[in-house]
Amino acid sequence: MISWRKHYKKTLIAIGLLLSTSASFYGQDGDPKNGEKLFKANCTACHALDKQVVGPPLKGVVERVKTEGGVDKDWLHKWIKDNKALRASGDKYANEIFEKFNKTEMQVFPNLTDKDIDDILAFTTNPPAPEPAKADDKTTSTTGATAAPADKTTTNVVIISLLAIAGLLVWILIKLRQLVTLGQSEELAGLNETRVRSFSEMYEKFHFIGKGLLAVLAILAAYGVWNWLMWIGVYKGYKPEQPIYFSHKIHAGEQKIDCQLCHSSAKYGKVSEIPSMNVCMNCHRTISEYNADHYMEPGKDKAFYDGEIQKIYAATGWDPAKQQYTGKTQPVEWTRIHNMPDFVYFNHSQHVIAGEQAIINSFNKKNPNNKIDVVCKACHGKIDTMNVVQMANDFTMGWCIECHRTTEVDMNNGYNKEYFKNLHDKLKKQYPQDGGKITVDAIGGLECGKCHY
Ligand code: HEC
Ligand code: HEC
Ligand code: HEC
Ligand code: HEC
Ligand code: HEC
Ligand code: HEC
Repeated sequence: MISWRKHYKKTLIAIGLLLSTSASFYGQDGDPKNGEKLFKANCTACHALDKQVVGPPLKGVVERVKTEGGVDKDWLHKWIKDNKALRASGDKYANEIFEKFNKTEMQVFPNLTDKDIDDILAFTTNPPAPEPAKADDKTTSTTGATAAPADKTTTNVVIISLLAIAGLLVWILIKLRQLVTLGQSEELAGLNETRVRSFSEMYEKFHFIGKGLLAVLAILAAYGVWNWLMWIGVYKGYKPEQPIYFSHKIHAGEQKIDCQLCHSSAKYGKVSEIPSMNVCMNCHRTISEYNADHYMEPGKDKAFYDGEIQKIYAATGWDPAKQQYTGKTQPVEWTRIHNMPDFVYFNHSQHVIAGEQAIINSFNKKNPNNKIDVVCKACHGKIDTMNVVQMANDFTMGWCIECHRTTEVDMNNGYNKEYFKNLHDKLKKQYPQDGGKITVDAIGGLECGKCHY
């Protein structure tokens, strides 16, 4: 026992030593594993390792800038952190490549530390062999946080009903057996001649069992019809096919493109529109192929994705060979998924701007294991895991009201501070039982006129 322990300790020390030497090794040259993560999170929207995307390929970039521009790693740090400042400082090579790429702006990354950048550069210098495209993970089928429990309840109801029916049948069997033994037992027959005389009498006595069974079936049927009625006009899970197979998992998930880069109007007003084809072309003028090395939905291949990207060119009349527009356009008719009836007023900016923090905080408090970072996901579910968008909630009046009842308003945001200067104190007095907690219903979120014209 003791010797084993000694051994164990020695092994631990050995492992510790190994780790610390490799850590100091990485300390000098950067950790390519971490670099890969950072590269995927920040750079792949515009860069690949070995081909041009929006920006140049970055494999071996440290060597390349040395030979092409005579600049070193220091320069790369400056460029990656803030290429704008570097260009503004009059740096010759920085301005040269900016011109070379038709003055396409690279994003600035003030948040990356020197170590982060060393890690990224270590990755571009020594990228590991490409992994086979990974199989789709389970997240694809997860819709919203609220989708699963509802489905579960339905399943539970069905299972409980089936168990109840099974129980009833067993009970009937037992009763029938008892009847048969009763009928066979002579003493009893003698004892109780008047009561158990014939089958018809038995039926008289026990017919309620059959009737009970019928009643249970009737209740189940009624429950089904009720459910069906309740779900008329509710399209949770609605998931139509679109004219272009546009994947949110690839754009918002893998490439981490901000929702509002495409749905930019959500901030300003009532609707949050589908982006126009020009928005797609900002990137797809240069991204004409799907680079299949990091993600592939099962059943799809590179040729499929490439074909879908070609549809953007057909729609906008872009000739990728000549790199010019032909003028022949054809509109893309997206099928609308979310659509409130005309008598409902829903405004994105009230939720995306004024309510943003309140909604995120409240959602994360209610779903500690399924937190969201972007307000949109509170209502639309984890869109960034969906290849095909589907409705993640039922979008009924009850759903709006439920959230208004339970979401505490952020009285300190600029919007509410301005509009409800004195209201906060007044409400504190009015709802002392809530300890000054003010939910949306207190500021009018249950008034019919706020949501109905
Ligand atoms: C929004 C698109 C975009 C993103 C995101 C982006 N880049 Fe760039 N990058 C460019 C463009 C475009 C250029 C070419 C120069 C220009 O037009 O400014 C470039 C140039 C570079 C260069 C100079 C290469 C050379 O050959 O001289 C380096 C290095 C670089 N990017 C690294 C990065 C790293 C590292 C990241 C992620 C942390 C990143 N870029 C993210 C668009 C982007
Ligand atoms: C690169 C552009 C782009 C980005 C980024 C993007 N979307 Fe979309 N979105 C689209 C397009 C195109 C459609 C229409 C096709 C479809 O339904 O998939 C769409 C559709 C939708 C719809 C359904 C609209 C309807 O018809 O009711 C919702 C909801 C949505 N997006 C939310 C989001 C959220 C939330 C994010 C961020 C996590 C996001 N989108 C990021 C382009 C984008
Ligand atoms: C901010 C840049 C950006 C914008 C804007 C953008 N895309 Fe993409 N798109 C990409 C990147 C990056 C890829 C993945 C390339 C890769 O991994 O090789 C991609 C891949 C695709 C693909 C193949 C994968 C898939 O999703 O099926 C299609 C189709 C596509 N985009 C359509 C669109 C459409 C339609 C729009 C406009 C509504 C659009 N894109 C807007 C960057 C963008
Ligand atoms: C409080 C819930 C809520 C939040 C938060 C929310 N949406 Fe919506 N969204 C809705 C509702 C409800 C509709 C249906 C509106 C209609 O039909 O008038 C909708 C519709 C849409 C549509 C379809 C076009 C339209 O306006 O009808 C898109 C695209 C969309 N949302 C994107 C977003 C994006 C992107 C965000 C985050 C910036 C976001 N939504 C945040 C509830 C929400
Ligand atoms: C995820 C939670 C959530 C859902 C779902 C939601 N809301 Fe809201 N709503 C809020 C919050 C939070 C505010 C308060 C924003 C603020 O601070 O002013 C708000 C405010 C409003 C207001 C303004 C109320 C006022 O008195 O100023 C209207 C109108 C409204 N929502 C309509 C709707 C409709 C219609 C739906 C359903 C289609 C809906 N909301 C669904 C969270 C939600
Ligand atoms: C927070 C927003 C909100 C408030 C407050 C609200 N409604 Fe609604 N109401 C809705 C939405 C959203 C729908 C559409 C539901 C759907 O399409 O399934 C709706 C639908 C209805 C309908 C149509 C019946 C149905 O279920 O489709 C009636 C009637 C109605 N509301 C009456 C009222 C009355 C009366 C009040 C005030 C007591 C009220 N609503 C307050 C959001 C609201």
